[in-house]
Amino acid sequence: MKNTPSSSRLEAKIQVTIKLEDKVQTYKINSSYFNLRDLSSFEDCPINFCCSNCHCGACLIRVVDGLSNFNLPDSIEKSFLDSLGAGSDERLACRSQITGSVTIEPVMV
Ligand code: FES
Repeated sequence: MKNTPSSSRLEAKIQVTIKLEDKVQTYKINSSYFNLRDLSSFEDCPINFCCSNCHCGACLIRVVDGLSNFNLPDSIEKSFLDSLGAGSDERLACRSQITGSVTIEPVMV
């Protein structure tokens, strides 16, 4: 069963904003740590998660804001991003953990 965006009364610690053309989707996370792969549980998430393990590139995102809140890419992700010709502001959502609010755009739609 898919989740819907949080409407908890608890104050969100992290906000994930996804921009896609003229639409903006915001997810409020009541944690100080979040794995972007878990966005796949939200039924309205516009990011495609296919393999969820650094093989397909479907989850490629461009970081619009909050790059410093991301974990550093490990050697496997770095190598795959290089093979895709990804920019320094691009990451694989399935390999990304964040510790603060971010704004991202899906690259593959
Ligand atoms: S879902 Fe395949 S690389 Fe992220």
